[in-house]
Amino acid sequence: MWNDLKSKAASIAGRQILDLFDDARADDFAVQTQFMRFDYAKTNIDAGTRAMLLALAEGAGVAARRDAMFAGEKINETEGRAVLHTALRNLDGDPVMVDGVDVMPEVLSTLDRMAAYADEVRSSTITDVVNIGIGGSDLGPAMAVQALSPYRDGPRCHFVSNVDGAHIADVLRELDAKTTLVIVASKTFTTIETMTNARTARAWMKDHGGDPSAQFCALSTSEEKTADFGIPGERVFGFEDWVGGRYSMWGPIGLSLMIAIGPEGFRAFLRGGQEMDRHFRAAEGVENMPLMLALVGIWHRQVLGHATRAVLPYDQRLGQLPAYLQQLEMESNGKSVAMDGSNLPVDSGPVVWGAPGTNGQHAFYQLIHQGTSVIPCEFMVAAQGHEDDLKHHHDLLVANCFAQSEALLRGRDLDEARSKVADKFEGAELERQAAHRVFAGNRPSSTLIYPRLDPFTLGQIIALYEHRVFVEGVILGINSYDQWGVELGKELATALQPVIEGTAEATGKDGSTRALVDYLHSHRN
Ligand code: F6P
Repeated sequence: MWNDLKSKAASIAGRQILDLFDDARADDFAVQTQFMRFDYAKTNIDAGTRAMLLALAEGAGVAARRDAMFAGEKINETEGRAVLHTALRNLDGDPVMVDGVDVMPEVLSTLDRMAAYADEVRSSTITDVVNIGIGGSDLGPAMAVQALSPYRDGPRCHFVSNVDGAHIADVLRELDAKTTLVIVASKTFTTIETMTNARTARAWMKDHGGDPSAQFCALSTSEEKTADFGIPGERVFGFEDWVGGRYSMWGPIGLSLMIAIGPEGFRAFLRGGQEMDRHFRAAEGVENMPLMLALVGIWHRQVLGHATRAVLPYDQRLGQLPAYLQQLEMESNGKSVAMDGSNLPVDSGPVVWGAPGTNGQHAFYQLIHQGTSVIPCEFMVAAQGHEDDLKHHHDLLVANCFAQSEALLRGRDLDEARSKVADKFEGAELERQAAHRVFAGNRPSSTLIYPRLDPFTLGQIIALYEHRVFVEGVILGINSYDQWGVELGKELATALQPVIEGTAEATGKDGSTRALVDYLHSHRN
C-alpha cells in the first residue's frame, strides 16, 4: 500500500491543487461536525488518493484498534498497559473495564474530590497556585489555563517545569508564600526536575511564613511516594498507569485548570473531549475528523516526505498549543521501531512546530512561502473572539488567517511578480527584481475553524489531536504510548551529576564531553 501511495504521489507531482477545485471540492474535502469544520481542500489529495489513504487505515485495523483502546485492552504492549485517558472524560460513567474491574466509579469519585478541593481553594485566601511538573504534567494544564483565560475566576496559576533554578526563582519571587498553593504534579513522583523544584518550593514556603503541611497537594499515581514527601492522603489526587503522562490533563493533572476556571468549566472541557470521542467512534470514513486529520498527516509526512508540519493557531491564547502538541505527537510517534520490534518501513512522525498568527507572519512565514522545503500548515481560528468590543481586531485576524492559506495555495507567478514592479524597474533589473517576488504556491494547508475558544471547544480540539496521534500510530504500526527514547539521556545525566559537581572523574567519556567538563570547572568560582 505504501508503494501504491508513493506511485500515486509521483504521478501527481507538479499538479496544481488549485486545478482540483470544482464546485463540490470545498465541501467534499472538509469534515464538519455540529461544532467544528476541518477543511483540507487546499491539499493535493484527490478522491482517488483519499480512497487509498482510507484503505491504508482500514488495512491497518484502525477501527478495531480504536475499539480495543476504548474497551480497556492493553494496547500499550511494551508496558503491558491499557490506554484509557478517554475514561477520564467519560462523564456518563458507562462501565470501562480494566482487568475485569470497572474503573469508572473511582474516576468519577476522584473528579468529585478534585471539584470539592478546587472549590475549597477558590473560596479560601489562596491567591496564587504554582503547578510544579514537567512534560505531560505541565504542558497540558499550562496550555489550557492560557487558552481559557477569559473563563478564569479563581486564583492565578503559574507553572514551573524547568530544573533551571531561574524558572522557579522567577516565579516565586513574585508570590506571597502565605497565600500560595503548590501543586506537585508528577505521575511517577520520581522525575528529578519536579522533585528538585518541589523541595525548593517547600523550603521557600517555610522560609517565607507559609505552611507547607497545609499548602501543598499532589497529583500522582504513587500513594507511597507522595506520603514520603509529606503530603497527606486527602490532598493527593491519584490516577492509574493507564493514563499516559501526555494524555493526563483530563484527570488530576488538570487540577490547576479546574482551580482556575472552576469545576463546571472543567466539566465543560471534559464534555468537549467526550464529544470528540463519540464522534471518533461513530463517524464513518470521510466523515471522521480525527481519521481525516491523521490521513492528511500521513500523506504529507510518510508519502510525500515533508519532514515538518507547522501548527498555526490564529488564536493568541493557543500560544502554548504547539509546545503541547510537540510532546503529544513527537513523544508518541517519534519512533523508528514497530510494535513487533521491526524497523519502520516509512518515516516516523514529523517535526511539529509553530506559533500563533499573525506573529509568525512577521517571523518565519518567509520560509514557509519561499523556502525550498514544503511545510504543510495547519491553521486554526475561531469564528468569534472573546473581546466583543474589539471585533475589528478579530476580523483582521481571520482575514490574515484565510489570506495565508490562500497565498500558499495560489502563489504568485513571474508575470504577476513582474507587473508588481514594472513601474519601478526595467530590462534585466526588472527580471531580477521580479524573480525575488515569485511565490511557488501549490503549498498545502488545512484549516480548523470553530465557534469560539471556550472550554467545550478546547476539549474537542485536544481530543481531536489525541485521536489523530492514535490513528497515525496504528497506521505506522508503532506503540504511541511508551517513550523509551527519553531514557538514555536521563541515565547519563544521573551518571554525570557527580562529574559536574566535581566529586567524580569524567573517565570513560568522549573527548568532547571531557573538554566541556574541563571548561566548566575552569570557569566556575
Ligand atoms: O521524560 C518523559 C516523561 O516521562 C513524560 O512522558 C512525562 O510526561 C514527563 O516525563 C513527566 O513525568 P512525571 O509526570 O512522571 O513527572
